[in-house]
Amino acid sequence: MENLPAGFDLGGKVAIVTGAARGIGAATVALLRARGARIVASDINDAVASLAHDDVATLTGDVADEETARRTVALAMERFGRLDILVNNAGRTMNKPLIDMSVADWDGIMAVNARGNFLQSQEAVRTMIAGGSGVIVNVASIVSAVGMKDTAAYAASKGAIAQLTKVIAVEYGDRGIRANAVAPGVVETDILEGIVKDSRATLASYGGVHPIGRVGQASEIAEVIAFLASPASSFMSGALVMADGGYTAL
Ligand SMILES: NC(=O)c1ccc[n+]([C@@H]2O[C@H](COP(=O)([O-])OP(=O)(O)OC[C@H]3O[C@@H](n4cnc5c(N)ncnc54)[C@H](O)[C@@H]3O)[C@@H](O)[C@H]2O)c1
Repeated sequence: MENLPAGFDLGGKVAIVTGAARGIGAATVALLRARGARIVASDINDAVASLAHDDVATLTGDVADEETARRTVALAMERFGRLDILVNNAGRTMNKPLIDMSVADWDGIMAVNARGNFLQSQEAVRTMIAGGSGVIVNVASIVSAVGMKDTAAYAASKGAIAQLTKVIAVEYGDRGIRANAVAPGVVETDILEGIVKDSRATLASYGGVHPIGRVGQASEIAEVIAFLASPASSFMSGALVMADGGYTAL
């Protein structure tokens, strides 16, 4: 266990992390575990099963399906007996100009990023209300706040996530529930796999658009998520926290 100030300790907490098989989700599972949390790690990719451990239960499912949300929260309760934290991280992107985007493209991105976030949050909040407290951390994006070419569906879905975060904060603050979102700049992961030839190299080439001169790493976003999930951020709710190397300060 790291030697941390008490507010960062997640000992005794149970967290769900969606999209946990790789990238920011996998880094988040590793960090929350290191800080003492027990975890339900879910993903549409059954590679998530490789994370299974005494303190990590895994589940394969599509966050866009209602059934997945029910199964995920039920697994947290069955295996660990409580639910304190939901990290809505699962997401997909698409790079297409608006005029080339099909209805199926639009619906596909909205289903995973916006509907998925809604379904997971709804199911988790029901259980958190019964438990008397809870924390939701949503993974938004710089395009929740600013425009970027070729991201119509993705940016709209991430804007929806930023707004959903605020509504949950306002609607359930008096039930002991906080909700915040982290808005990463470009982070070097495999998110563009199948969209461009080399996802990591392509993303790394965006370093110069951030004032600090480089892209982010998954572990740097996980740090912000762990903070927002912890009592150290106890007076924060409804915030869109930029973790973008200064991108939106320009
Ligand atoms: N990489 C970036 O530059 C960047 C920037 C801003 C925000 N984000 C957001 O961070 C989050 C994590 O992305 P990443 O960069 O780690 O990408 P990634 O592709 O490495 O990880 C995303 C994970 O989500 C899973 N997933 C996708 N669709 C799913 C579904 N329908 N149901 C369940 N799981 C599903 C994938 O299988 C994958 O394991 C996403 O919400 C993404 O939009 C990423």
